[in-house]
Amino acid sequence: MSRMISRRRRTALMFLPAFLLLLLSGWSTGPSALITEQEPVPAGDAAHGIYEYEDFERAKKCGSCHSDIYQQWTRAMMSQAYVHHWDEIEYFRLAVPHAEIKPKVAGVKDGCNGCHAPVSFLAGDTPPPPPGEGSFADEAVTCDLCHTIVGFEGETPYNYNYQVVPGRRKQGPREGIESPEHITVKNDFLSQADFCGTCHNEQSPWGVWVKSTHLEWSEGPYAEDGVPCQQCHMPPAPGRTAKMGSQVYQDLRQHLFHGAHVESKLKGVIELVMWPDMDELVPGEPMRLSVALFNQKAGHKVPTGSAEERQLWLEVEAVAADGRVYHLPVDLKGFEGEEHSITSNAPAYQDMGEPLGIPDFAGLPRDDTPFEGDRIFSLPYFDEQGRRTIMQWNTASQGTDYRIGPRETKIETYTWTLPDDIALGEITFRATLNYRKLVKSVGEYLDVPADEMEIIVMNTGVTRAEVVDW
Ligand code: HEC
Ligand code: HEC
Ligand code: HEC
Ligand code: HEC
Ligand code: HEC
Repeated sequence: MSRMISRRRRTALMFLPAFLLLLLSGWSTGPSALITEQEPVPAGDAAHGIYEYEDFERAKKCGSCHSDIYQQWTRAMMSQAYVHHWDEIEYFRLAVPHAEIKPKVAGVKDGCNGCHAPVSFLAGDTPPPPPGEGSFADEAVTCDLCHTIVGFEGETPYNYNYQVVPGRRKQGPREGIESPEHITVKNDFLSQADFCGTCHNEQSPWGVWVKSTHLEWSEGPYAEDGVPCQQCHMPPAPGRTAKMGSQVYQDLRQHLFHGAHVESKLKGVIELVMWPDMDELVPGEPMRLSVALFNQKAGHKVPTGSAEERQLWLEVEAVAADGRVYHLPVDLKGFEGEEHSITSNAPAYQDMGEPLGIPDFAGLPRDDTPFEGDRIFSLPYFDEQGRRTIMQWNTASQGTDYRIGPRETKIETYTWTLPDDIALGEITFRATLNYRKLVKSVGEYLDVPADEMEIIVMNTGVTRAEVVDW
């Protein structure tokens, strides 16, 4: 690869006079922009360092004309992926030190940036300057990165295998758009799920899919119905592309990129409906409660993406006529590895001791939820020694995937023997589906700000029955 770059640089020098001419005639491209869309554009790890920072434009500049889109983007995680507290902590405190001591994961020192600080990655400046110093890394996934992506390499989009050709030509979804600032080219790739998949699928050094949002989507009903990611995360609505835009489009692509960090996106994703197996319940006798969970909103599994640290669990309780509350543990289904789909505080994440330099690290409570014995919809990630890990790059294998697929319905049951002394009268069963972005024990241990670990109620369900004296 380095041979290829040096050849490119030599070529750039040979054409210097022609390039200066281009400059005089109004072109503002850098030498490395001599890579054109026609020749094979390096992708993935091979693209590390093939460009320079000067080849890209700052988001603020795009924002001076595309003001609404710019404001949307600054509020989305897309622009925060480098400066956001937890990203900074995980990269600088865990990933970089780990890469330095463990050859198998050495690649992540550069690799994390392929998705989180892509311009720094392409400029070969990794690790990038610390967050908050105003470098290009702070812009994370920026306008000029996405709008100079021309395609991707290979069959499956993953591990930043997008192909970037920076310069005056901006890739967009429409034909024949005129701008005083740049040339625009219609590129259907931007409207396809594969575009997003280049960063929303990730493989660990062991070849395990540690992020598979695009793959989950592609195997599900939304791919079949022709509904790409953009439809739900960049929904079309009337608006002007730029302040001086020629017209109001009815289907302007809104740059919302709303996901797990936007409460209204999480609310109601899964619907809950519940029922007891009979209307009249008897003290001292068993009954069975059922809860149906229907994934009605998401185009992929829930939780998706960083499934090593996202938590979705169901708490069920019965409230008797006298107000007394009973917590109900879920019935086991008996599938292999089910213990990872039942909340537990057993010690886990011992591999964090490696980058933190703590030999024989005892680990942290695995789920750290209010109750043990609840159903948790999870995909467990394991290190080489079979221990649970939240360091997705250290994942050697995975356990049973018990998450809720797109338009899938899961039914959980609760077999419960009513206490002999339970109050007679109406009994209320309540179900609460909780969501948390990061395991609490891990976040607290690493001093991650509390908002990352707050519990968000995704949905609730309720049903009633009568307790009668037989
Ligand atoms: C260059 C890599 C890249 C591309 C291409 C990309 N993303 Fe992202 N995306 C990221 C990163 C990195 C984050 C932020 C991760 C973080 O720090 O929370 C992110 C965040 C998101 C989030 C917010 C997640 C949350 O936790 O709130 C959504 C939604 C999203 N992307 C959707 C999309 C869609 C839809 C596309 C395609 C139109 C796309 N992304 C293309 C890298 C990318
Ligand atoms: C001087 C103002 C200005 C600046 C700065 C600017 N643009 Fe534009 N851009 C426009 C105008 C005007 C249009 C066309 C609007 C229309 O036709 O309604 C446009 C259109 C676009 C389109 C739409 C193409 C399509 O297919 O619909 C994209 C994508 C785009 N710009 C990206 C960018 C990016 C990325 C930047 C920063 C690197 C940028 N622009 C900077 C004025 C600007
Ligand atoms: C994660 C990648 C990504 C980022 C970051 C991004 N865009 Fe886009 N943008 C897209 C995609 C994808 C489309 C087309 C979506 C479609 O066709 O469904 C698009 C469409 C556009 C359009 C055309 C809208 C229309 O409907 O005509 C403009 C203009 C634009 N983007 C400007 C910007 C500007 C300015 C920024 C930065 C403030 C930006 N984009 C950031 C991916 C991105
Ligand atoms: C039918 C609508 C729909 C489609 C299609 C869809 N999503 Fe989502 N997406 C959602 C909803 C709803 C959520 C919130 C629930 C969640 O976080 O799991 C979400 C969440 C996300 C998140 C946040 C996950 C996290 O934990 O940080 C990302 C990232 C994301 N989607 C990316 C994508 C990508 C990439 C695609 C295409 C391959 C896609 N989505 C397709 C509806 C959709
Ligand atoms: C292939 C692209 C890709 C690579 C490589 C990658 N990430 Fe991410 N990362 C994402 C995307 C996309 C998200 C956000 C949405 C989701 O959860 O799917 C994310 C989410 C995260 C989050 C969660 C942020 C939050 O607010 O909850 C952290 C932390 C993180 N990544 C750190 C890292 C570190 C450290 C590395 C390197 C070891 C890395 N990532 C490598 C794409 C990537």
